[in-house]
Amino acid sequence: MKLKLLFAALLCTIGSWAQRQEYNLKEWRFSHNGESWEKVTIPHDWAIAGPFDKKWDLQKVAIEQNGETEATEKSGRSGALPWIGEGVYETVAVVPEGFNHGELVFQGAMAEPEVYINDKKAGEWKYGYNAFKVDVTPWLKQKQLRIRVNLRNIEESSRWYPGAGLYRPVKLVLTAPKKRKQWIDDWSTFISTTSLTPASATLTMETKVMGYDKKKPVKVLFNLTDNNGTPIKHVTAEVAADGTCKATMTVTAPKDVEKINAWTPETPYLYRMETMLYEEGKATSDGRNIKIFDKISHRIGLRTISVSAENGFQLNGKSRKLQGVCLHHDLGPLGAAENRSAFIRQIRIMKDMGCDAIRTAHNMPSQWQMEICDSMGMMVMAESFDMWVYPKCKNGYARFFKEWSDRDITNLVVSHRNHPAIVMWSIGNEIPEQWSQEGKEMAQHLQELIHSLDNTRPVTQGMDRPDDALKSGFAQVMDVPGFNYRVHKYDNNIKQLPKGFLLGSETASTVSSRGVYKFPVVIDDNSRFASYSPNYDPKALDNADGQCSSYDVEYCPWSNLPDDDFLMMDDRTWTIGQFVWTGFDYLGEPSPYDEYWPSRSSYFGICDLAGLPKDRYYLYRSQWNKKEHTLHVLPHWTWTGREGEITPVYVYTDYPEAELFVNGKSQGRRHKDATASQILCNPDAKDTNDKVLNRYRLRWNDVRYEPGELRVVAYDSNGTKTEERIVRTAGSPEQLCLTADRTTLCANGDELAFVTVEMTDGKGILCPDADDQLEFEVSGNGTFRAVCNGDATSLEPFTQPTMRLFHGKLVVVAQASTEPGTMTLTVSCPQRGIRKSINIDVVK
Ligand code: GAL
Repeated sequence: MKLKLLFAALLCTIGSWAQRQEYNLKEWRFSHNGESWEKVTIPHDWAIAGPFDKKWDLQKVAIEQNGETEATEKSGRSGALPWIGEGVYETVAVVPEGFNHGELVFQGAMAEPEVYINDKKAGEWKYGYNAFKVDVTPWLKQKQLRIRVNLRNIEESSRWYPGAGLYRPVKLVLTAPKKRKQWIDDWSTFISTTSLTPASATLTMETKVMGYDKKKPVKVLFNLTDNNGTPIKHVTAEVAADGTCKATMTVTAPKDVEKINAWTPETPYLYRMETMLYEEGKATSDGRNIKIFDKISHRIGLRTISVSAENGFQLNGKSRKLQGVCLHHDLGPLGAAENRSAFIRQIRIMKDMGCDAIRTAHNMPSQWQMEICDSMGMMVMAESFDMWVYPKCKNGYARFFKEWSDRDITNLVVSHRNHPAIVMWSIGNEIPEQWSQEGKEMAQHLQELIHSLDNTRPVTQGMDRPDDALKSGFAQVMDVPGFNYRVHKYDNNIKQLPKGFLLGSETASTVSSRGVYKFPVVIDDNSRFASYSPNYDPKALDNADGQCSSYDVEYCPWSNLPDDDFLMMDDRTWTIGQFVWTGFDYLGEPSPYDEYWPSRSSYFGICDLAGLPKDRYYLYRSQWNKKEHTLHVLPHWTWTGREGEITPVYVYTDYPEAELFVNGKSQGRRHKDATASQILCNPDAKDTNDKVLNRYRLRWNDVRYEPGELRVVAYDSNGTKTEERIVRTAGSPEQLCLTADRTTLCANGDELAFVTVEMTDGKGILCPDADDQLEFEVSGNGTFRAVCNGDATSLEPFTQPTMRLFHGKLVVVAQASTEPGTMTLTVSCPQRGIRKSINIDVVK
């Protein structure tokens, strides 16, 4: 206690010394392809306003990863938005006097950024997804920095929508104030948990003092506080001649802290470690007199990670299988422009599903996203590349790999390694070199580079050609061998993996459109759309509608249904988890409709592009969310014209058994079939059956539609009636129902509310076919930001305040102003004469 008081007194002196200053550079002017300037606030995505048009990214290519050998015309592959072209951003930063060092920190700039200060080139980067720094020290004396960033996006450089512009924050960091010439390098600072028990945690801290001068010796102080800022413990450390500095600290309970709060997705407790640079002066009466002249701080988690054949993946010594999803970086209607509220919403939705991990496919995550994963409790596989030397699209990262990959990996790791959320690094996705000796050596090199920067986390990558990767030894060199799809090969893969475990680095790629149900319900790999498949039907597209069925029975020729992945996770002890492709729909890659227009976004999402859960959400939830029950019935029950026709009913639930009633008539009781032990999507098997679907879903395949009421009664494992759900036939559209994801926003000009709009009948029952054109107006202390209905075939722009409902729903995004007050979103449906408003508080 004494120690804590003394240290609290010591910290009081900090404020009186000049320290580093950071400026978030938000206001810029922007010009696209040499056109006139406009004022923009970053994060900014110049392409998201559209208009959608197939001309923007029309390609004649063969997608080798999908097994194609002949080039065919593809549209919407990268979102059908105008991201290709050049962009220039300019801003002016007025620099206060007296700083000896300055740098610009870009969290990501799409793409190939070149940075000019006062008309002189100051730096560049190639990869649009990575963070990088530009040293601006030579210009500090000029007091004014005219910063210009030139960006260039070229055609066929991405397999999906990459976004365009300064889509992540940029900050100016000034260090070494007054006569000081020394400062702390934040990217050289690494704090890790080296051991953890319920009674103690040992931390290792390392950092680097820049401009270190032996003649003016300084020391480093590491100060640990709890999540309220209360000091727990500190250590001081000497600096070596090269400026590096290392120390350890052991925190024990109940001496230093009442209890060790280990970080887990369920208990994401964050401590804070401050790293301070100080000069030790003459001792004063309290025994200390230190002048602190630089300080940085990190929110850290106490947690350890290991992987082994015996215990699989372990967090804090406890085995758990990763229940993960892959996420692309775009935020649907916001495009690539980052926003904290949007990330928080994504993570909240995924956590409610029971998901505990995300994979940042297929590139570097952002700082904001990782901070949110740290604080909300979401593990992360942080990925780097979608290709190495061999290009997967003509002008992709392969152009830069040889020269830039080490630098890219380095920045990824050093800028993110203090995030407790990150539990694994990934060096690549479906790298074509996986069959070769050269590829194996490259994998080893990248993995060793990561180990040299971070020896606390394992390294993985997603392999899509297991036979080749195992033959070449490419798979065996990885800390965590990760396999994409092809679950039917897992049993063979594991025999060749001395490590004794494997990860489903990418799974499912099941496709569905929210609210769409197709009859008859048949399991469908969509190979009739695939020109390379023996099942290819050139006429298939003529009858296509650009939608996939939400009975969750559709996948792609290379992929499978979720049930197969569940089975492999449940029945094979050596699987350490999976990352489903994908948590949310994303812009671009509209498989299986790569050759269908209009279609410009994916169907893979568990949630649609607006973030609305598809039925599949509840299938995962029924397996993954162990805290709350799931009882979800599909399809909707408004099928005018299908009277008397077979309309199967599925129930996604964690309960083992349920009975279905149609207008009070029992359709029988179904029990999950635990005996199903064979996967369904196995191209190598002579005969397969769909029994596995009965293990994870309750299905009534012979129900005949009659309007009225579907009622499902669930039974627990003792055979006791527990819960019921009722789905009713809707009447005609009569009212709009508005639900905001939050009712209070902070008046900071950034926060967003996502308002779900539904058309219902007079009783509040969703009208599942409503496709009315709606109009939106935001008044008061906020603005309209975007709208999205989740329809992959819609060409209505996200940024205009009007859109059609898609299967009765859409989501409006409204943004808080900087002034507190109330913002009001009014939604109207002019043709029906319906209007509805919702108020959202905007507070300081
Ligand atoms: C995988 C690939 C992903 C995505 C997915 C679609 O092979 O890694 O980026 O293309 O297929 O199923």
